[in-house]
Amino acid sequence: MPDEPKRRRLATRLIRPDRRASTDFQSLATSTSRGSTVLFKSVADARDSSDPDQYRYGLYGTPTVRELALQIAAIEGAEHCLIVPSGQAAIALPYFAFCKSGDHVLLTRSAYGPNTELAFDTLKDLGIEVERYDPMIGAGISDLIRRETRLIWTESPGSITMEVQDVPAICAAAHERGVLVAIDNTYGAGVLFDAYGAGVDISVQALTKYAGGHSDLLLGSITTRDVKLDQQLRAAQRLLGMGVSPDDCSLVLRGLKTLDVRLQRLGDSALKVAQWLKERDEVTALLHPAFPDCPGHDIWQRDWTGSASIFSVIFGNWTREQVVCFVDALELFGIGYSWGGAGSLVMTYGDLRRPTPETGKLLVRLNVGLEDPEDLIDDLEQALSRACP
Ligand SMILES: Cc1ncc(COP(=O)(O)O)c(C=O)c1O
Repeated sequence: MPDEPKRRRLATRLIRPDRRASTDFQSLATSTSRGSTVLFKSVADARDSSDPDQYRYGLYGTPTVRELALQIAAIEGAEHCLIVPSGQAAIALPYFAFCKSGDHVLLTRSAYGPNTELAFDTLKDLGIEVERYDPMIGAGISDLIRRETRLIWTESPGSITMEVQDVPAICAAAHERGVLVAIDNTYGAGVLFDAYGAGVDISVQALTKYAGGHSDLLLGSITTRDVKLDQQLRAAQRLLGMGVSPDDCSLVLRGLKTLDVRLQRLGDSALKVAQWLKERDEVTALLHPAFPDCPGHDIWQRDWTGSASIFSVIFGNWTREQVVCFVDALELFGIGYSWGGAGSLVMTYGDLRRPTPETGKLLVRLNVGLEDPEDLIDDLEQALSRACP
């Protein structure tokens, strides 16, 4: 009779239990794999880094994180995807991966505010020159490209002023001169606009918005079709320590199952609400890609398969006080900075200098949620009547 194995003491058994549940389990949900440390079979295995797909450390992704990366890459028609802690991290990483001191970057004036702040605060101090360009420039971007130009940032549509960019024309001009093009593709969610078909090299999304879809997490993605670009991005991610929580990734994986139906419903409701606002005398401009007031409406018709949940209105004949009064009077639109979730949101920006310094103060951005659009319209109606007594 072989000796009974010696029973280990409690403190050891708490860390190395004697019995484990079977892991042979099939579910429709992706399991949440947490872990900082990854265990290796041997020292040789730990020292062998020849397989880029081998799990080596939690910072470089657990199965849950990689599952999300695969799904985002598939949705966008990309080959590679990195998941990072926020949309802003996804914007920051390509600068650090691809640009060095002395390089020149072109950034659309319609870009998300913190992208511009990063460019003019941090990057300037690192010797990277960022120049802003008119979002409607199209092929004219060629005239701004210099020998040192490394990267062109597009964002289409701009998330407050809604300009739809001619991304194919910008990509064609950039590639003729060997310049990379990145897009903030958050509005299209990789579904409504084919960024890779348009020619971009890098596409980033704030998964915080439509992919997450429930306003309860922050995450970003960076996709590319080019293995070399992916390797550069991965190196920067590792060195900047941009790891993500598998719990948040599992929430996005759940959100993705309803992405298509949510986007359709959000897009339809936003169109309905926008159509109603368009008829109101108080509204002097409606900045929604599907309406002719919106810069680049014709490009949207050519390149896009639909529209999403945010748009802006300008109350050109009001005072700033009336705008604030209107926003404060809304009951179903929460006053908040984000978008893409289930609940409707509204924001106005006293210091916005676009479309012009005068109209920027009178602009209100709406994010239409999943509530019944008729109730949202009723709410807008009561708030309009309280803003202009
Ligand atoms: C267009 C756009 N890109 C990126 C971001 C940043 O996303 P996050 O909030 O996840 O940092 C935002 C956030 O509002 C955004 O509107």
